[in-house]
Amino acid sequence: MSHHPVHVEQPSDAEILPRLETPGVLSRVEELIRRYPVKRAALLQVLWLAQETLGWLPNVAIRWSAEKCEVSPVHAYGVSLFYTMYKKVPTGRFFLQICQNVSCHIQGAEAVIAHAEKVLGVDSHGGNTEDGLFTLLRVECLGACGNGPVLQVNDSFATDVVDGELAMPIGVGLDPERFDRIVEWCRRRAAELPEEPVRDALGDILVGTDGHPGATGASAEVQGSYAPPPPALAVTASNVEEGRTKVTWKAAPETTVLHLETRQGGGEFAEVASLSGKDKEWIGELPAGAEIRIVAETAGVRAKPSNIAKGIA
Ligand code: FES
Repeated sequence: MSHHPVHVEQPSDAEILPRLETPGVLSRVEELIRRYPVKRAALLQVLWLAQETLGWLPNVAIRWSAEKCEVSPVHAYGVSLFYTMYKKVPTGRFFLQICQNVSCHIQGAEAVIAHAEKVLGVDSHGGNTEDGLFTLLRVECLGACGNGPVLQVNDSFATDVVDGELAMPIGVGLDPERFDRIVEWCRRRAAELPEEPVRDALGDILVGTDGHPGATGASAEVQGSYAPPPPALAVTASNVEEGRTKVTWKAAPETTVLHLETRQGGGEFAEVASLSGKDKEWIGELPAGAEIRIVAETAGVRAKPSNIAKGIA
């Protein structure tokens, strides 16, 4: 569905942006971006966050994600097309994807798909039920071939209902009766919970309360913030030409800024320049006895200072 762009009425900025520019969503964006040395690295997760918030990815949301991650809109659009888990069209509350690939096929996927089309009254190429509850889509391998035929309900595998919950017991594949039980589960859930709890890319609930179908890992622990790189290493300074001091160092590749600091007579270090060179730079002559150090910074996070070097007269 998502990798074949189809014409869909695109909502306006005014319809979408207020739903994304909420304190909750914005703080999650900030948190996601903080985990990476460069903003663009968070793009997949920010797109996911937007999709989870809206239920799909309209163009406005893609532009919004691009802006947050400082990439071009066309780059973000291309990414959203490449990964089929990004939905470029709205779906029903329960997005049912049935695998039609070879392992599932030989276990009877076509018969289950035909049954699903009949029960829901929609086709299996993205058909939506009129009540807005279900979207049915035949897909390629879902990576759970041992349980063929396999169904995915939103983010969770499901081939049966066990103890009142969606489940995929080992070796149990989908069949028409199990499909009916799953549809029944979805209808009951829709009656009990007015809206589906929405989780963001890190598993935190954004909207709703409880009872997510529970894909393994869907509520993964929030990880720690991105660890800043080690400091600039092996800093040396030498006055090899009159009036100039050559500073050399080694820094971690993800470092984005290097701050050069100096001090004299054991006082406080003060920043004198930002270094832009790869591993060496010329600065002004250092006074006798002056010390230098470098502080590496990555995505706004400063690492511990480097070793201290002295100018050599
Ligand atoms: S072939 Fe259906 S999950 Fe792999």
